[in-house]
Amino acid sequence: MTQAVIETVNLGKVHFSNFLRKRFQALDQLSLTIGKGETFGLLGLNGAGKTTTLKLLLGLLRPTTGEVKVLGYDAGHVKALARVGFLPEAPYFYSYLSAQEFLDFSGRLFALPEKQRKERAKELLELVGLTDAAKRPIGKFSKGMMQRLGIAQSLLNDPELIFWDEPTSGLDPIGRRDVRTILHRLKSEGKTIFFNSHLLPDVSEVCDRIGILNRGRLIYQGKVSDITAGGNYLKLEDFFLSTIQEAEANHKKGSS
Ligand SMILES: Nc1ncnc2c1ncn2[C@@H]1O[C@H](COP(=O)(O)OP(=O)(O)OP(=O)(O)O)[C@@H](O)[C@H]1O
Ligand SMILES: [Mg+2]
Repeated sequence: MTQAVIETVNLGKVHFSNFLRKRFQALDQLSLTIGKGETFGLLGLNGAGKTTTLKLLLGLLRPTTGEVKVLGYDAGHVKALARVGFLPEAPYFYSYLSAQEFLDFSGRLFALPEKQRKERAKELLELVGLTDAAKRPIGKFSKGMMQRLGIAQSLLNDPELIFWDEPTSGLDPIGRRDVRTILHRLKSEGKTIFFNSHLLPDVSEVCDRIGILNRGRLIYQGKVSDITAGGNYLKLEDFFLSTIQEAEANHKKGSS
């Protein structure tokens, strides 16, 4: 059996708001195992709990229930994080820094030596198509350019496990194709990739397996090839929509 890189057992998260009077179950009993070298896509409507799941896997949120192990450590352990890359849903950058300066700064956080930082920044800016904009202040970047920079930053430490929250959001068709190419390359290097997405054609092309979240519950997990049979992404779209509709109908029945 392939080595488990991510393992969650009955993982749950309740968000509290209004001075603890309101509780919201954002994730409920998630039990999931991701093997080494797998590319896993987590799908679900807005508010389904995808970002919450990523944050729990990174240790940015503390679980309310259950367990989560990443690379054999409790989520958020520094030894795991050193081997992990992360692209947040809305990456934030200091607008006065150039892309090159930002990557250099991030490389310092990973304690990369200067020569390696310079080489890695050059290589990654090339990879994400930002070489010509390397010296421009990030404040002048378009949304898609910032997304590309976020992707570059997430790969700075040559991570073996990559968490991306909607990597192709805000990208033009060329950017989306570039990201798919990067994903294929990372896969061929044996990396494990876990990402959230609404873009089913991209998911259909690159993922080995998907999970569908609805109202914080994993209502499906399985191989993409079992759904798409030969790469027809419309099948994934139909499958996704009918799975959600069925879950919603059951939810309505249960609450009426
Ligand atoms: N800090 C928080 N406090 C209270 N509720 C929260 C908090 N973070 C998330 N939620 C709620 O948890 C639910 C799941 O949010 P989450 O961000 O995980 O969804 P998502 O699947 O990533 O959605 P999207 O596709 O819009 O990015 C939402 O209803 C959201 O309002
Ligand atoms: Mg989200």
